[in-house]
Amino acid sequence: MNQTVLLPGGAGFIGSHIAAELLDLGYEVVIVDDLSNARPDVIDRLEKISGRRPVFYQADVADRSALDRVFTENRIDAVIHLAGFKAVGESVQKPVAYYRNNLDSTLTLLETMATHGVKKLIFSSSATVYGAENPVPYTEDMPRGSCTNPYGWTKSMIEQILSDACVADPALSVVCLRYFNPVGAHESGLIGEMPNGIPNNLMPYITQTAAGIRAELSVFGNDYPTPDGTGVRDYIHVVDLAKGHVAAIDYVNQHTGWEAINLGTGCGTSVLELVHAFEKVNGVPVPHRIAPRRSGDLAFCYANVDKAARLLHWHAEKSVEDMCRDAWHWQENAKNL
Ligand code: UD1
Repeated sequence: MNQTVLLPGGAGFIGSHIAAELLDLGYEVVIVDDLSNARPDVIDRLEKISGRRPVFYQADVADRSALDRVFTENRIDAVIHLAGFKAVGESVQKPVAYYRNNLDSTLTLLETMATHGVKKLIFSSSATVYGAENPVPYTEDMPRGSCTNPYGWTKSMIEQILSDACVADPALSVVCLRYFNPVGAHESGLIGEMPNGIPNNLMPYITQTAAGIRAELSVFGNDYPTPDGTGVRDYIHVVDLAKGHVAAIDYVNQHTGWEAINLGTGCGTSVLELVHAFEKVNGVPVPHRIAPRRSGDLAFCYANVDKAARLLHWHAEKSVEDMCRDAWHWQENAKNL
């Protein structure tokens, strides 16, 4: 019988791409999402992509009785936990709301999993947990560092909670996947990133600028100690990222205990390199100007990806050009959705 995977937060950017991969591979998919940062028609679009419709509950993961109902009505084999607030700037303005939401939903999920005897969990973590102290490339054996914002701290704290839970229950199997910079979109053009309001992240800002929605991109700083002075990040195609989660399901099925694993490409790309790659591959200009540094930003952030290769037998396959092309295709297509 096919495995059933629960995706709290599964209607969002990353969750929807994971759902598409899982449906394609024949997994049963159950999504719980309060739609606070996603549209309800994502479920229809997932059905269009794969020909199969995920089971969907509109509920807050911190709502204990709603979550209990989900576990009672479905025989869940594994959970990929993506539910959470994720806007870095907003987390500085509303730290209590971020801690309440991200920690509460995780604790309620863990308690409900325990009640229903579900032992396999993959958590959506972030490279932000390495903080500012560690040198790049980041390896998973480095200690977590000091995060520059409450959003980052919620990821770091949740990793600790999950690690403690694994010590207490040797039957638990948890993998914290530390995402680098997920970008791009499904090649169907039917799902992608849909930020509310002005985008915080680089790629959606680039696509909206190319589309004429934003006048110009501000490049935050060109005086970093990087080859061209602009910030260097490890951009990873969201479809590669989704495949990394599928590989992690195989891993949690065969192991117990806690692991943190980087999901990146291992390659750094600067802001200007990304802008130029986007212009070249899509043949559209991205008006931009140099602006002051954004507080909290680092010069470099990229992964060592050996552990993912070793434990998950996974590596990213798509290029920066693929990421730029698919992000633009999505931007153009989303107008009609
Ligand atoms: C940010 C968060 C990280 C989070 C991730 C995904 C910080 C310090 N880190 O990563 O915790 O997990 O988003 O949501 O906020 N840039 C511009 N102009 C723009 C936007 C960005 O030049 O309009 C630059 C940034 O300075 C950076 C690069 O583009 O060098 C990538 O920025 P962004 O997409 O926001 O991701 P991170 O800051 O790496």
